[in-house]
Amino acid sequence: MPTMRAAFATRFDDANPLAALAVGERPEPAHPADDWVTVQVRASSLNHHDLWSLRGVGLTEAQLPMILGCDAAGVDPEGNEVVVYPVVPTPGDPRGMSILSEHFPGTLAERVAVPRANLVPLPEGLTLTDAACLPTAWLTAWRMLTTKGRVDEAEAVLVQGAGGGVATAAVALAVAMGKRVYATSRDAGKRERIAALGATAVESGARLPERVDVVIETVGAATFDHSMKSAAPGARIVVSGATSGHEPKVNLRRVFAMQLEIVGTSMGTPGELYDLLAFCADRQVRPVVDSVVPFSKVEEAFARLHGGEVFGKIVVDHTA
Ligand SMILES: NC(=O)c1ccc[n+]([C@@H]2O[C@H](COP(=O)([O-])OP(=O)(O)OC[C@H]3O[C@@H](n4cnc5c(N)ncnc54)[C@H](OP(=O)(O)O)[C@@H]3O)[C@@H](O)[C@H]2O)c1
Repeated sequence: MPTMRAAFATRFDDANPLAALAVGERPEPAHPADDWVTVQVRASSLNHHDLWSLRGVGLTEAQLPMILGCDAAGVDPEGNEVVVYPVVPTPGDPRGMSILSEHFPGTLAERVAVPRANLVPLPEGLTLTDAACLPTAWLTAWRMLTTKGRVDEAEAVLVQGAGGGVATAAVALAVAMGKRVYATSRDAGKRERIAALGATAVESGARLPERVDVVIETVGAATFDHSMKSAAPGARIVVSGATSGHEPKVNLRRVFAMQLEIVGTSMGTPGELYDLLAFCADRQVRPVVDSVVPFSKVEEAFARLHGGEVFGKIVVDHTA
């Protein structure tokens, strides 16, 4: 059976997800239906999702070994440069869909198979490295701001946990949209870097000079109370992750008195990915890249993500 190089989960380890990571040969991706095609992956990027998978969140033992990775940019069978939209229709999943690496093998491999409809042409001006950052974290941030947060109606935006992939995307996008952007971080170095992107950086939990209309929340329990207190009447607190814990205390009096909307969201639609790519290409917005790591050192990339020192996206170069 022909094989290819891949990074995959062989087991689950909640305490030390890095111990559950394997790098080696896996079978070439199968096509579950006629409309699927194989993409040669040139660049991918890591997401916190990959660490959740190694911890066993969203996967079962029966699905192992599972190739990790949600994001990819590469070359389609006709030789066109493409961005891979990572959400795949999945009958049997309660959501009706899944993200690559949940039911179908992910992008951290030489090749990945997806429905042809999931291929989006690489816009002029964007590199494959840039594009590999966009389909998960950046798409999530885009939908949080636009469709869910209705940022058009907003003047000020708060982004919690400024170093993460979604958070740096939200800051860069909201600044490019001309909003006043506040961003929290526990780390002075990250505050300096987020300020360089055009946000007002504050310590986690610090009082803001004004209440905001949209809050971008991916940190969860550690920051949720601050998100609530920082919200203006009618504000949208948009939640797409809960890195620090998913069961915060919620003051319901504040929710109804301030008429807050707490809105959940996950990923985005293909149309939103087209809009995001066009926005980045037209407005010269480029993803915040923490580092580019050759595939041969993918374990080091995972260790860096797990260490929490990351600022922006870690890109994996599949040509090296
Ligand atoms: N639903 C979706 O479609 C979707 C898509 C992408 C990501 N996500 C989720 O969104 C979350 C963010 O993912 P990510 O990859 O962007 O970044 P991440 O690596 O999870 O980091 C996010 C930030 O969280 C902050 N943080 C972590 N623990 C904290 C704590 N105890 N107290 C305060 N702050 C803390 C850190 O900020 P500082 O160090 O700056 O304080 C860190 O920079 C994840 O849970 C992920 O699963 C969801």
